[in-house]
Amino acid sequence: MQDFNNKVAIITGGASGVGRSLAFALGRKGAKIVVGDVDKKAMAQIEKDLGAENIDALIEHCDVTSIDSLNAVADKAADAFGGIDLVFANAGIGAGETGAMWDYSEKDWQWTMNVNVWGVINSIRAFMPRLVASGKESHFVVTGSGNGAYTILPDVPIYTATKAAVHAITENLHYQVQAGNLAVKVSALFPGPHVVDTGLFNSGRVRPEDLKKEGVDGNESGINSVEDMKKMCEEFGIQLETTHPDEVANMAIKGIEKNAFWLLETTPETDTKIRARADMILNRETPVPAMVG
Ligand SMILES: NC(=O)c1ccc[n+]([C@@H]2O[C@H](COP(=O)([O-])OP(=O)(O)OC[C@H]3O[C@@H](n4cnc5c(N)ncnc54)[C@H](O)[C@@H]3O)[C@@H](O)[C@H]2O)c1
Repeated sequence: MQDFNNKVAIITGGASGVGRSLAFALGRKGAKIVVGDVDKKAMAQIEKDLGAENIDALIEHCDVTSIDSLNAVADKAADAFGGIDLVFANAGIGAGETGAMWDYSEKDWQWTMNVNVWGVINSIRAFMPRLVASGKESHFVVTGSGNGAYTILPDVPIYTATKAAVHAITENLHYQVQAGNLAVKVSALFPGPHVVDTGLFNSGRVRPEDLKKEGVDGNESGINSVEDMKKMCEEFGIQLETTHPDEVANMAIKGIEKNAFWLLETTPETDTKIRARADMILNRETPVPAMVG
């Protein structure tokens, strides 16, 4: 897809971070934006900020763990703007798990699986039939993570597991639209190349009441922001670099313009990790943990 003018883009988790940057980047190219999110404060803010730039936008409360909620957003987008051209299944959280996985709260597993995996499955089920039925050129982008898709970082096993599943789902979705010779294209978006400065480490702000853990405020890991992450890395002598979400949005748009599957920008260090992992498997070596960054 090369022309975004008057195209309708639905962005789940669009009120913050990568989603918010996508909303502005696409809006500035003339797209009509539908933001679906659960964070009322961030939704009010983006509504005001998009309005200030005269970007045509619909900001809807939408919980990706509910297919009904996503179907309602699809209907509203169709009513307001006449259809859907781009979908960004982008909403995601990190539960901030730490320690041994056999001790994790079931609530951490459930919340992360619900948003990161079921959120993508529900988005595919709600939006794909509409994109396919339209027969028009369209694009479905799933936000994954290199952590799970091509490397297994040792620090956040639940998050990594969900993103491994998300990548398998995304690649299969691509195979299916390709096999069907459909007009919809699929891309896998990997925010980066460094840790992206977003609200991901403070996902607890949108944790549902029924999945909150008694007596636990913030992440048990003690990492509640990118700044905390930087400090922790410094203790290990690592200088953590970060990426602004606007850079991710621009990279994603450039890739979509080329109908690229991989919306992925890496550093030489990341490429080394990917090669080392492939070699480790080919040589049947015992895995050793890769470092973040
Ligand atoms: N930040 C990074 O370094 C990084 C790296 C790789 C992948 N990602 C992925 O990027 C995506 C966007 O995250 P981000 O980093 O911009 O974080 P973010 O917290 O800034 O944005 C995530 C958005 O998702 C929303 N959300 C959470 N639960 C939801 C639900 N049930 N329904 C609808 N919306 C919900 C949040 O309110 C928030 O607005 C996620 O899928 C994340 O896993 C981020």
